[in-house]
Parts: sequence; structure tokens; C-alpha cells
Amino acid sequence: MYEHLKTELRGAVAVMTVSVPKSLNALSGAVLRDMEHYLQSLDCHSVRCLVITGDGDKSFVAGADIGEMAPLDAAGGTAWGAGGARVFRMIETLPIPVIAAVNGYALGGGCELAMACDIRICSDNARFGQPEVGLGIIPGFSGTVRLSRLVGMGMAKQLIYTGSHIKADEALRIGLVNAVVPQAELMDKAMELAARIAANAPLAVQAAKRCINAEYDMPADEAIAFEAEAFGQCFATQDQKEGMKAFLTKGKYEFQGK
Ligand code: COA
Repeated sequence: MYEHLKTELRGAVAVMTVSVPKSLNALSGAVLRDMEHYLQSLDCHSVRCLVITGDGDKSFVAGADIGEMAPLDAAGGTAWGAGGARVFRMIETLPIPVIAAVNGYALGGGCELAMACDIRICSDNARFGQPEVGLGIIPGFSGTVRLSRLVGMGMAKQLIYTGSHIKADEALRIGLVNAVVPQAELMDKAMELAARIAANAPLAVQAAKRCINAEYDMPADEAIAFEAEAFGQCFATQDQKEGMKAFLTKGKYEFQGK
């Protein structure tokens, strides 16, 4: 189906695995195109959560493809960055939650890919970093935007200016990941988390994602009003009616996404 991705559907959870063994899953233009097509093809009515991981036990994604970037001029560099940033923004704004299961190196574009996801968990061998300044460039797939939002400006500046790699426990300590697990358990833990999300009312989960993303950049009063509107809309759903009825009658109800 895709040359550089393995894709799978496990119940209501989709799994996208970046698979470029020769380059530790580096992101070439072709990989980014595969990702874009896959994201466009996802049916976010039947799929309730997406898990993104990397193939093998060494690397999640070892960055953007340095061989492809090396010959670019300023216009080419701008287009390259904008292309990757567009795909990562698609992930960030995908209607359903996206979990990064970081199974090894998440460097440069790999760290940026993980940061575009809603939730990050990683294996104990994971390594994170934005090493771009060591190559004469800066993070170009929105790393300067998202890293400071996730870990604060001081730590983001240190990581980006030094290009240092950090280990999983340090990534946990600074809030770059939500959990560290033994590598053998990573996918099980990611699927467990995805299943818990998928069992909840899908329209409510999607509304929560929309709110959290949109409200981040709004003044407080606007953000509060945005949430109030989205909250109200939940009461127009069958899942709210049936979900609350089931609670009050001690019955069971499986959310329908209606
Ligand atoms: N782009 C293109 N190729 C890459 C790559 C990238 N971002 N990262 C790794 N590769 C390739 C290597 O060139 C090597 O190819 P080769 O076998 O044809 O020589 C192969 O993947 C294996 O990598 P190697 O460096 O031999 O593995 P290692 O275990 O010694 O080191 C890393 C692993 C991740 C530390 C190292 O590959 C690295 O630093 N990669 C670049 C990370 C980076 O700077 N990313 C940001 C780019 S903006």
C-alpha cells in the first residue's frame, strides 16, 4: 500500500509505522507524502485513535533525510520545511487523538513528529533531541514552535542551541513525554492507552481535542466561551443522552459516535 509506512487497523485504533530501515526511519519527501496520503485516507468516524511509531527497535524517526536536504538552496529549504510542517499540522489537527509510541531515536524531525502528536510515551532506550544547529540549520518542521510550548522556553532553548540528545528519563522529567516503559511493553501500553480513549464518547473526545488546541492561543474570555459552546453541543448527541442514562440506571451503553 505505502512504500515507507506500515499501516494497520486494530479495532477502532489505527497504527502507522514509519518504515525506512536503511536510514533509521528518516523522513524523506516520499515518506512525508506517504504520511499525508495516509492521514487523508483515515476515516475518523470509524477510527477513534491513531498510534504512530517507528519500525525496528532502535529508532522512531532519526530526523529529516539529510541526504535530501543537503543540496537545497534557500527557496528549496523553505519549501521543504513548509511541506513537513504541513503534514505535522495535519497530525496535530486530526479530529481524533494521536499517540506517539517513541521506540528509539526521536531526533530532529522525529522529535518534531512526536511533538505534533497529542500524547507521547516512549521506551526506555528512546533518545530525543533537536540537533539541527550542528548541521547549519534550525528545526524546520515546527520544532521551535512546539518544543517551548511543551517544555518551557528555557529548556527548549537549551536543547535547540546545544543540539544535545536527552535520554528517556530526562524527557519524562521535563514533560516532553508522559511515560517511559520497557521497550518490550511499549506497543502494548500505547494500545492500552488508545483503547481507553477509543472506549469513550468519540464526539466528546474530538470536541475536547478541538477545544484544547484552539483555546491555547486565545485570550481567556474567548477560550472560556469557545469551551462553553462546544460543551453545549455535546448535549445534542445521542451519546450524551444514552451515556448519562446508563450511568443513572446503572446500565451499560457503548458509545456510537452519534
Ligand atoms: N537522514 C539520512 N540518513 C540518516 C539519518 C538522517 N536523518 N539518520 C541516520 N541515517 C542513516 C545513516 O546515514 C546510516 O546510513 P548508512 O548505513 O548508509 O551509512 C544509517 O542511517 C544508520 O545510521 P548510523 O549513523 O550509522 O547509526 P548510529 O547508530 O551510528 O547513529 C544516530 C544513530 C541517529 C545517532 C545517527 O544516525 C544520527 O545522528 N543521525 C542524524 C540525526 C539528525 O541529525 N537528525 C536531524 C536531521 S535535521
